[in-house]
Amino acid sequence: MEQQKSAAAALSGIFKEESSIPEEYRIEEIHQKQYLLNGALVPWDGAVSKIYSPVCIPGKNGLERKLVGSVPDTTPKQALEALDAAVTAYNNGLGEWPTMSVEGRIKCMQKFVYLMIQQRSIVIKLLMWEIGKTLPDATKEFDRTVDYINDTIDALKDLDRESSRFQEAEGTIAQIRRAPLGVVLSMGPFNYPLNEIFTTLIPALIMGNTILFKLPKHGVLAHYPLLEAFKEAFPKGTVNTLYGKGSEIIAPIMESGKVNVLAFIGSSKVANGLKKLHPKVNRLRAILSLDAKNAAIVTKHANIDVAVNECILGALSFNGQRCTALKLIFVQKEIAQEFTTKLTAAVTALKPGLPWEKDVKITPLPEANKPAYLKECIDDAVAKGAKVINENGGYTEASFVQPAVVYPVNDQMKLYHEEQFGPIIPVVPFESIEEPVNYQVNASHGMQVSIFSEDAEEVAHLIDSFVNLVSRVNINCQAQRGPDVFPFTGRKDSAEGTLSVFDALRSFSIRSLVAAKITESNKTLLNTIVKKHDSNFLSTDYIF
Ligand code: G3H
Repeated sequence: MEQQKSAAAALSGIFKEESSIPEEYRIEEIHQKQYLLNGALVPWDGAVSKIYSPVCIPGKNGLERKLVGSVPDTTPKQALEALDAAVTAYNNGLGEWPTMSVEGRIKCMQKFVYLMIQQRSIVIKLLMWEIGKTLPDATKEFDRTVDYINDTIDALKDLDRESSRFQEAEGTIAQIRRAPLGVVLSMGPFNYPLNEIFTTLIPALIMGNTILFKLPKHGVLAHYPLLEAFKEAFPKGTVNTLYGKGSEIIAPIMESGKVNVLAFIGSSKVANGLKKLHPKVNRLRAILSLDAKNAAIVTKHANIDVAVNECILGALSFNGQRCTALKLIFVQKEIAQEFTTKLTAAVTALKPGLPWEKDVKITPLPEANKPAYLKECIDDAVAKGAKVINENGGYTEASFVQPAVVYPVNDQMKLYHEEQFGPIIPVVPFESIEEPVNYQVNASHGMQVSIFSEDAEEVAHLIDSFVNLVSRVNINCQAQRGPDVFPFTGRKDSAEGTLSVFDALRSFSIRSLVAAKITESNKTLLNTIVKKHDSNFLSTDYIF
């Protein structure tokens, strides 16, 4: 009780009167009354879902999540209309967008990115209010997404240059290009509501596919200022938005069998359920980024300061709400005391507060049920012999949860197995290096691992053990997705397909070729088509 009181005193004041929020960060409620369908912003006067911020304001009933606005709660009827629009725009590959030249598609994308940049400040503000991302991180999410689009354009130019020549083999001449697949359903998570959806939507779109995109529950309003840009930049029906409950609106879309690619970032359980709804699984390509519980392994040969800094970044950036977050830390017993002492001190030094406040690192959580779930995880560990070893760890006030370092964690506890996706750092002491290796062998996921050691022989052994268990081995640094030109994927239940600026262009397309026997008449025929620019596909034009 006394401990709770002192925690309340130390952490009180995180939530403030609205009048004390600096003018530039205050927000007017935004009530979205339209959605993007078939090239128009269609008015909506039906039911809406209210959007509440993780930021609470003290009111007469105590702390209350601030209302940010509302979005259309569209139904399966509108979802199927959106599907029809995307199917019609694709028109079995004969539509304006899938047959447009690569240069034409690039021009549309450049127009989109120009219009998107005009909305930078409002999107960043909405990211802070809707998901509680700090100002530097929200800014980074927007700018990283713009860079991703520009890099995608450059990667497509390179791809097109490579494909803009004929190849000859065994008396046959061919031109091989990458062609679209059809209708892409893109769904993303709340933690990167802009960036993660765009890392599938943008490459899918620029390759000539048509798009349905389902907005995440948190971070949905951040997309509203961009709908006009989609409408202006792309042909009718090329991009269509979906709102409402995923469990109601996505099933009829998948059951129609008209979706060619499912691009989904979320849980493997949901992804598997969605795939099974498709009547012709062989026609469905899936690009998935799923469960992960990336481990850090800190051996007795580690530079402890480096390990602590990177583990803090890995475990607590955006309050641990990253698929790539370090969600379990193994530390060798010989250095466990020193490591945990430094780790808890580093956690205590992190400033809690509201997203726009200077130097704030820990912010309120958007998911309403998350504080209760985190408490359940901590209680379970404590009941089985662990302790919260940092001051005020786990202290909760409304949507805010102070990070908890939980030690010693073992394989009997939820925190050893479940992806907490929040501000808890479970630390597992180990004797033999085989223990963390066995953790990964038995885990249902296999995204990344971070190894902390300065012993070359030990690192080499661990690299060779882990490269076939996960898809990225980080040495003396946190796990992460970037740089975005590097492949991002996972094994087991962590992913299907590979994303990167370049890989995504491949993932959302299929190779198609035009081939002919090398005869004089065929040479003349192909040369005439190319010279007269009669075909968008068969072309040797070089895009600058
Ligand atoms: O939530 C998963 C994100 O793709 C992680 O990206 O490692 O750059 O934070 P990040």
